[in-house]
Amino acid sequence: MNLNIALLGGDGIGPEVLNQAVKCLQAVEETFNHSFVFKKADVGAIAIDKTGMPLPEKTLRLCREADAVLFGAIGDLKYDNDTNAKVRPEQGLLQLRKELGLYTNIRPVFSHPTLLKNSPLKKEIVRGTDFVIYRELTSGIYFGEKKLNEEGTIASDLCEYTEAEISRVAHLAFKAAKSRKKKLTLVDQSNVLESSRLWRKVVTRISESYPEVTLDCLFADNAAMQIILTPAKFDVILTGNMFGDILSDEGSVISGSIGLLPSACIGDENALFEPIHGSYPQAKGKNIANPIASILSAAMLLEHFGLNEEAYAVKMAVGKSLRKKVVTPDLKKGSKYGTNEVGDFIAHNIVDIEDDFNTNDE
Ligand code: IPM
Ligand code: MN
Repeated sequence: MNLNIALLGGDGIGPEVLNQAVKCLQAVEETFNHSFVFKKADVGAIAIDKTGMPLPEKTLRLCREADAVLFGAIGDLKYDNDTNAKVRPEQGLLQLRKELGLYTNIRPVFSHPTLLKNSPLKKEIVRGTDFVIYRELTSGIYFGEKKLNEEGTIASDLCEYTEAEISRVAHLAFKAAKSRKKKLTLVDQSNVLESSRLWRKVVTRISESYPEVTLDCLFADNAAMQIILTPAKFDVILTGNMFGDILSDEGSVISGSIGLLPSACIGDENALFEPIHGSYPQAKGKNIANPIASILSAAMLLEHFGLNEEAYAVKMAVGKSLRKKVVTPDLKKGSKYGTNEVGDFIAHNIVDIEDDFNTNDE
């Protein structure tokens, strides 16, 4: 298969972890005889420094023309506490999601058997966790009208959803549930918010078209508690933009490190793949950031194009790095392996399972 992949490293550790994902995609290319063309562009703080804008026109064009975008991370400390900043790095990512119509964000949360001890939660609680968050990504409070009065004393962000916006992400979530454990949990705050009541109405109606899927509804506050009390009982969680952002960071605590979790942002025309973690500026250039979230995002990219054996090969190689403890210090204190070494190990261990039938990796 020929694929044009836009590479947006972004800020902080973004470019370093992205490089490891590229190594893995190159290994896939070679092992499975594909042809991937990679083109780089700037986004985020680095783009602001160069052009004054977090998402330069050139970058957007490259992303539109590409088959898929692989994204690193975004954010810079110098903007985090500057409440007066006119432009912010995060706007680059938000604008990109909006412009490319990436309305569904898929965020798998899992607990790998070798990482049970990495979670601060008890092993018995995290064991068997395997759920996926379907987060609406281009609407809601993130994109509603923002206001600040002249005196700078009153501010508001509008949380607005249309039936159509809820419906398109809901259908994708129900389809996912149908092919998984057949359970969908809608997370909203419909005891308080009108927009949440619309979510509940629309999702309940859509559920009638998926009789094999059981629908459950939870208020967001309760969901935040249930997710760490009994994570293994969840299957597909469907929710709006902001609740999805918050709950996916919570999910990473179950997995053992925020450096592990990938995501796919899907629209009708475009797709972008990115770790759920941020730019971790304190670790930039130190070769300590965990590249697994980025590498697993590349695996989601492969799956998106139906390259399932290839994605499986990447996931097996990641599994091997976890089993052999070839991991960064976030997963093993004092580990001698850095971002690059872990990336190399995983890339070298990407094999075609069919060819490799008799090879024992242990
Ligand atoms: C994420 C991030 C972004 C979000 C930020 C960087 C805008 O936290 O992808 O989870 O809030 O969506
Ligand atoms: Mn987030």
